Amino acid sequence: MQAQKITLSEEAAKINEALMQRVECFISESGGSIDFQQFMQMALYTPGLGYYQNSISKFGESGDFITAPEMGDLFAYGLANSIASLPADAREQILEFGAGTGALAVSLLGHLQELKALPKKYLILEPSGQLQSQQKEVISRVLADVPVCVEWLSELPNKFKGTILGNEVVDAIPCQRIRKSENGWIAQHVGIEEKRLCWKAGASLSSEHLPPALTAEVAIADGYESEIRPLVEPWIKSLAQSMESGVLLLIDYGYPQVEYYHPQRNQGTLRCFSRHLSHSQPLELVGLQDITAHVDFSQLARIAVANGLEVIGFTSQAGFLLENGILQRAETMSELLDDKARYQLSREIQQLTAPGQMGEVMKVIAFSKKDLATMCGFNLQDQLHRL
Ligand SMILES: C[S@@+](CC[C@H](N)C(=O)[O-])C[C@H]1O[C@@H](n2cnc3c(N)ncnc32)[C@H](O)[C@@H]1O
Repeated sequence: MQAQKITLSEEAAKINEALMQRVECFISESGGSIDFQQFMQMALYTPGLGYYQNSISKFGESGDFITAPEMGDLFAYGLANSIASLPADAREQILEFGAGTGALAVSLLGHLQELKALPKKYLILEPSGQLQSQQKEVISRVLADVPVCVEWLSELPNKFKGTILGNEVVDAIPCQRIRKSENGWIAQHVGIEEKRLCWKAGASLSSEHLPPALTAEVAIADGYESEIRPLVEPWIKSLAQSMESGVLLLIDYGYPQVEYYHPQRNQGTLRCFSRHLSHSQPLELVGLQDITAHVDFSQLARIAVANGLEVIGFTSQAGFLLENGILQRAETMSELLDDKARYQLSREIQQLTAPGQMGEVMKVIAFSKKDLATMCGFNLQDQLHRL
């Protein structure tokens, strides 16, 4: 599908132009092409210019996409309920990765206070300076009366004890785009032709770079395209090393490996979001659109286990939130609401849990370090066997 034609504001046009110059310069210095992971890194995270680093608003109705914590309060309620089910030392501190606008931090801490399960500290690790400023503003304004210390980190803490969580963070970690050619698997590169970015065939990939599902004896047709995310390995490794004990909870779009690399999913999962429209043209609107690819949850589990973590649960977002009581919560809330607000609430439940919306394709995975009991949310729709 083509990216839609949109009229750019002066600010957006300047950002796009400056970022394109940098990308083109890097491509020339690199001998005519760069791999897609390098391109995605620049498009999303170039300081001041990349999509998550520039000043243009992206979250919510007026932005490009809406995440579960931005829809209302129920997602954070479900999460709070699950975190409150952990033993006290596993929720003594919470570390949130990629906190977006700060919406999740605000609602989660509010609910944890209600549940008498406030952590001593809430830490945020956010690579985007622009988003950090938004988070600081909203948290100081809304949480002024909540007795919890919120701190922003620039690197992972040492010997962390508690819960680490990330909603829609792994899908924002740059990935490689790969393609099956008649000579085997190749990495797709980004080059320039007639002053426009274009796809180019890159280096061949040997089997050690590929997920097991693509090296198994499954017939994959030439022309098949997908993604791999090598950067997940050092990321999970560093998290596992920084944790002394506790839980790592990740929520994201994705599948177990056999489903991710199913022969029929032959166009992969790469998606771009701009003004609530999705398409698959990442080389357009550079710096002005989100670029994401789904998460291979089997890869996460394999790497986590190899680094000393244990998988304690894997389920759909719908299963996780329903087991954590969001329907009962909505029922209680709706008694106090007018018709319009009740309608909004039922829409929120629908978006969070319906199979055609976020309910099935969003998954929740939890890992623990040092023999932890399970947490609430993984029994209603246990999908561990699918990893
Ligand atoms: C799609 S947004 C999700 C924001 C928020 N969690 C939410 O649910 O609304 C992705 C977020 O992940 C952050 N991010 C990307 N890579 C990261 C990394 N390696 N560590 C921490 N945060 C990261 C981005 O800056 C951004 O805040």
